[in-house]
Amino acid sequence: MLSSSVKARLLGSGMMAALALVAYGAPVRAEPGPAPYLDPRLSVEARVDDLLDRMSLDDKLGQMTQPERRHITPEEITRYRVGSVLSSGGSAPSPNTAEKWADMYDGLQRAALAGRLRVPIMYGVDAVHGHNTVVGATVFPHNIGLGASRDPALVREIGAATAEEMAGTGVDWNFAPCLCVARDDRWGRTYESFGEVPELPAMMTTAVQGLQGDELGGPASVLATAKHFVGDGGTEGGDDRGDTRIPEEQLRAVHLPPFRAAVKRGVGSVMISYSSWNGLKMHQNRYLINDVLKRELGFTGFVVSDYNGIDEIDGASGFTRHEVTAAINAGIDMVMVPTEWRRFIEYLRDAVRDGDVPMSRIDDANRRILTKKVELGLFESPMADRSYLRTVGGAAHRGLARRAVAESQVLLKNDHDVLPLDDDDKVFVAGGSADDIGMQSGGWTITWQGAPGPITPGTTILDGIRKVADPSAKVDYSRDGNGVDGSYDAAIAVVGEKPYAEFLGDRTDDLGLDPEDLRTIDRLRAADVPVIVVLVSGRPMDVAARLPGWNALVAAWLPGTEGAGVADVLYGDAEPTGRLPVTWMRDGAQQPINGGDGKEPLFPFGYGLTYSG
Ligand code: BGC
Repeated sequence: MLSSSVKARLLGSGMMAALALVAYGAPVRAEPGPAPYLDPRLSVEARVDDLLDRMSLDDKLGQMTQPERRHITPEEITRYRVGSVLSSGGSAPSPNTAEKWADMYDGLQRAALAGRLRVPIMYGVDAVHGHNTVVGATVFPHNIGLGASRDPALVREIGAATAEEMAGTGVDWNFAPCLCVARDDRWGRTYESFGEVPELPAMMTTAVQGLQGDELGGPASVLATAKHFVGDGGTEGGDDRGDTRIPEEQLRAVHLPPFRAAVKRGVGSVMISYSSWNGLKMHQNRYLINDVLKRELGFTGFVVSDYNGIDEIDGASGFTRHEVTAAINAGIDMVMVPTEWRRFIEYLRDAVRDGDVPMSRIDDANRRILTKKVELGLFESPMADRSYLRTVGGAAHRGLARRAVAESQVLLKNDHDVLPLDDDDKVFVAGGSADDIGMQSGGWTITWQGAPGPITPGTTILDGIRKVADPSAKVDYSRDGNGVDGSYDAAIAVVGEKPYAEFLGDRTDDLGLDPEDLRTIDRLRAADVPVIVVLVSGRPMDVAARLPGWNALVAAWLPGTEGAGVADVLYGDAEPTGRLPVTWMRDGAQQPINGGDGKEPLFPFGYGLTYSG
């Protein structure tokens, strides 16, 4: 057996071309030496040209197709030469360990390399806050918290750490960062947004460099995706997949700038939004995809559709040949078509044969996809680099995540300087989010929607408090607040939202706290000790009416696995430096509320107290 690194080095050389005969079956062509596209000494362009020359229509249709891992076999990967496979939210091998991910990836990659032209696949996942589907990976704060940090260098470091954890498992394509500008907090994806103004996501496109490296193809370099193009955060009523009804001028001013910034930073792919712009589904918006993104912004990477996104075009479930044609002609290069990928290939083949989709469009899509594969070094190093497995959930990454958590805390109220706590204070901790990794991690963690409970190893906020407080200090806990009395120096209620993702997290109510959380806080208040509320949520919540009864309020957002970062701020080991990335409503009925719209908020955009004043 050759090791993957040896294989990698040999693959571009003549030796590997000969070996490939044995390993993968049919030769590329009976010619001396390696085929030019396998020769890393040639330019990317020359390699892609050579490869395209050798490809049949079916080879090209395959490259444009991305099935979901549970709906394709290795044999079909070889036969249909698909360009990519994805894990949708929570779709993981069993057992869900990093090693098993690497085995799965290598198995699928071997199947791709067994094809006639040996074109490797890219494997895509949503590693939106760390390599978050893998049990044991480091889970970083969701974007809304990182937006509060105002620290693009930190976001870049997180991107690089995520890329390392991904590289260990082989996964080479990340459907992140989400560059949405969330304008209505009722939207279930508000926490995936770095903030309500374009400057924040634009600034945080450093995530792209973190993930990809200065250029693609470094040791732990994965392809980044700017998503969801464009206007996903601007839909009426915060309706996920809804309609963004604004004039072009506003679309360009609010929602386009982060994509412009990501293109400048060399992002390799862009994902199209499920939403519509003024009634037209983005998945068929030729003007915005082709003319604006590709021509005007000069995006040279490839465009991927969202999961079954082409089904959305005509509003009816499933997709038709017409929808396939519309999407490809609008400029979509790869189609995320999890289950019905065979039918997609058939429809596209028919559309090409009938002249509805020009061959030049198919070639352009392939050129874009293959260029990224060559740049990623996948032809030379197709297998998982298992030397990075030890970084998965490793101490260095968890330390980085803890710092990110501390930097993302926003102190909103601190009457009589109840915070920071003294190390030896006697404290009582309560609340449904106090001792629960799943609650503090939110959606897109292990599963698509996330779930309460010990879903992956980490430090809960309660664990963090115990770690940071003096070992002799008394820290008592009960989830519902029973047992508290007047002997405590302070009581901390850690409360908030249950995990959710996408449309299932859309809220049409007033964004109030859960009645159980309110009862817990009332129990703490009844003990007549200072009450500190730590809010673990993906968005601002309607707390105005309750706030007078609380002595301190900290917005912790969705911190991920390293709850000690919250404690670092509570105890003053870290200064609270986070600032609101969104405007905090005075009343749920104010939604949508954004800076400069004339509405009177509870806390304005950019608000955040410090200990030093
Ligand atoms: C989401 C995308 C995600 C994709 C793949 C979709 O439902 O909108 O953000 O990348 O699924 O999991």
